[in-house]
Amino acid sequence: MKKSNGKNIINVAVFISGTGSNLKSLIRHSLKKNSNIKINLIISDNNKAKGLIYSKKFKIKKEVIDFKNIELAEKNILKILNKYNIKLICLAGFMKILTKNFIKDFKGKILNIPPSLLPKYKGLNTHARVIKNKENYSGCTVHLVNSKLDSGKIILQKRVKIFKNDTKKSLAKRVLKQEHILYPKALNKLSFNH
Ligand code: GRF
Repeated sequence: MKKSNGKNIINVAVFISGTGSNLKSLIRHSLKKNSNIKINLIISDNNKAKGLIYSKKFKIKKEVIDFKNIELAEKNILKILNKYNIKLICLAGFMKILTKNFIKDFKGKILNIPPSLLPKYKGLNTHARVIKNKENYSGCTVHLVNSKLDSGKIILQKRVKIFKNDTKKSLAKRVLKQEHILYPKALNKLSFNH
């Protein structure tokens, strides 16, 4: 399928567990005239995820998946991704770890955005850890997902200065603002190489 600007459209699914502010920025980007992506599916492991409101707001299909049995959950997700002809996946505050098998099926096609300057500070509670270690900079990274946590190829990265009086909340807010700029840029970059 092509967009009105003649570009081929790449169907993208965004996986969320919470607020979905990155989802919102990706949707906004996809609606721009020059974008060649379409966010046509939102997947969540949590039926209370706030970000699910964007399904109604932007008329995007949503699926809430029960992750009690991860293998079954992933089997269901694969079926749904096929149904919607999804070519790329963006993890945006998605709190479940996908299995090697799932990642293999989508090799080079799953992006993630941790709020840290990878390869430093992999995992959770980044803001608290960087402040505790008196780092001068933190930031955010968009990377391809592989079978090791936060370790796939880096697509784009943005540094954020840490101020002396920063708390984990104030730092998280400034980093998140940069995430909203970085993630669409990285998705754009990947989609053109696709
Ligand atoms: C972001 O800080 C992102 O880096 C991390 O989880 C948070 C999700 O925020 N992976 P939101 O749900 O996109 O608002």
